Amino acid sequence: MSARNDLERLVRPNILALAPYRSARDEFQGLAPASVFLDANENSLGSPLDEDFSRYPDPYQRPLKEALARRKGLSPEQIFMGNGSDEAIDLLLRAFCEPRLDNIVILPPTYGMYAVQAAVQDVEVRRALLHADFSPDPEAVFRVTDERSKLLFLCSPNNPTGNCLPESFLIAMLEQFPGLVVVDEAYIDFSEQPSVLSFLEKYPRLVVLQTFSKAWGLAALRVGMAYANPFIINILNKIKYPYNLNVSSTRLALQALDRADEVQAGIGLLRAERARLAWALSALPQVREVFPSEANFLLVRTTDADRIYAALCAEGIVVRNRTRELHCENCLRITVGSPADNDRLIAALQNLNDA
Ligand SMILES: Cc1ncc(COP(=O)(O)O)c(C=O)c1O
Repeated sequence: MSARNDLERLVRPNILALAPYRSARDEFQGLAPASVFLDANENSLGSPLDEDFSRYPDPYQRPLKEALARRKGLSPEQIFMGNGSDEAIDLLLRAFCEPRLDNIVILPPTYGMYAVQAAVQDVEVRRALLHADFSPDPEAVFRVTDERSKLLFLCSPNNPTGNCLPESFLIAMLEQFPGLVVVDEAYIDFSEQPSVLSFLEKYPRLVVLQTFSKAWGLAALRVGMAYANPFIINILNKIKYPYNLNVSSTRLALQALDRADEVQAGIGLLRAERARLAWALSALPQVREVFPSEANFLLVRTTDADRIYAALCAEGIVVRNRTRELHCENCLRITVGSPADNDRLIAALQNLNDA
């Protein structure tokens, strides 16, 4: 079967057949340069703000995709830009999963949005639990997989556990899982393990999610990426809102790409802080274990997560209580903050101990 046929069989038939909405700017693209735009019912008098926001943005964020493509050694046709990578998760489910018929496979404990978006779409979630040490169980994946398993979500580094899934496991899934393998690399910039982007050529069913929200420090802008075979990117483009990314976010993300050196320095600092925080936390009596992390957070097993969570809140420090997640009893997930944030956290925990 050709790669295209293999991908086509995975798409919901109604989506495959869908003629997407064509925005005014879609139709205009490629024609002679124009200076009078009377095609989109915008306000030609401009905006009440200093900057003119009166025109709809480029639906395909071309300059941003070109800059990202150069950075990643890909072509712009392999890139989808979303309103956060959460949008890509939602669109993948809507494009590939037939409600009440298809299923997705996840590896709990993992990022919550895969199951939430599946529930919104009325798609069954099958769970191949991680082992207690958070390593994956390939047999468990295949036990729950059948011919209606359309998406396998693999989060690496994983949220909330912080570890990467071994490359050998990712390759085994890419070789054997019958649907799309979505590798969520939201935290990859903090990790020693290389991205799987280089596998895109070999594995047409691979989708890689990345984001500007973490290492790039732009969570408020809501800009995320899906990298995949151009056929998959076209399907996502077909069903997205026409102008899913606003003009400010697109422009600011592009500007940030010019300051990659500063971002790299920030990643270095956060990794050093991660090690310092892990060391300081592990010295505290109310900490049982600090799990190794390849991300910008630490999963920490404590003596009493509910109590420590509440005590930190009372000090104005908010962490994430994960005690009710599988294998995470009494665990807090703590983002590695600025050096000053981390000092405050450590001091608060030390005081808690003295109290
Ligand atoms: C694993 C993972 N994927 C995706 C996201 C969503 O990122 P975005 O801000 O790009 O929507 C998060 C956010 O916390 C995450 O932890």
